Amino acid sequence: MAEAFTPAALSADKAQRYADLALEIASVLEGEPNLTARMATVSAMLRQAFEHFFWVGFYVVDETKAEELVVGPYQGTLGCLRIAFSRGVCGAAARERRIVIVEDVDAFPGHIACDSRSRSEIVLPVLDRAGQLIAVLDVDAEIPAAFDQVDAVGLERILKAQFSV
Ligand code: SME
Repeated sequence: MAEAFTPAALSADKAQRYADLALEIASVLEGEPNLTARMATVSAMLRQAFEHFFWVGFYVVDETKAEELVVGPYQGTLGCLRIAFSRGVCGAAARERRIVIVEDVDAFPGHIACDSRSRSEIVLPVLDRAGQLIAVLDVDAEIPAAFDQVDAVGLERILKAQFSV
């Protein structure tokens, strides 16, 4: 019988998987300047690498509206189109320019349920070379408490390497 899936079962080799993935992403994206292509590729490769990533993708800062995110490249079920900086986990990460880990989405005030199957999530700010916020990366899982500091460090390294240099 297959072992039951738990985030803990993954954590032992999770840091190594992030390190390997960072190299693979860098190799695929080498020389590609287009931001949409970069975000789409990062989303797809993250989704392929971690099977419990139920939704993974970017909400980008909409330059035409004050303090509003609009959905960008993603993998998963239908995402909400727009999120104000004042709302949700994505809004909190954008507003406060910090990584937000939510172990139980029902316990996060103002959480936006684009898909009710989502149980936990992590959202990271994406900064450009000048330190300007350009997007957030949102990863959702159908299991509670799927994300920890290993995810935060692994994902942040990939985002810095791909969007901040
Ligand atoms: N849960 C997010 C919204 C985005 S989706 O889950 C794809 C939030 O509260 O900001």
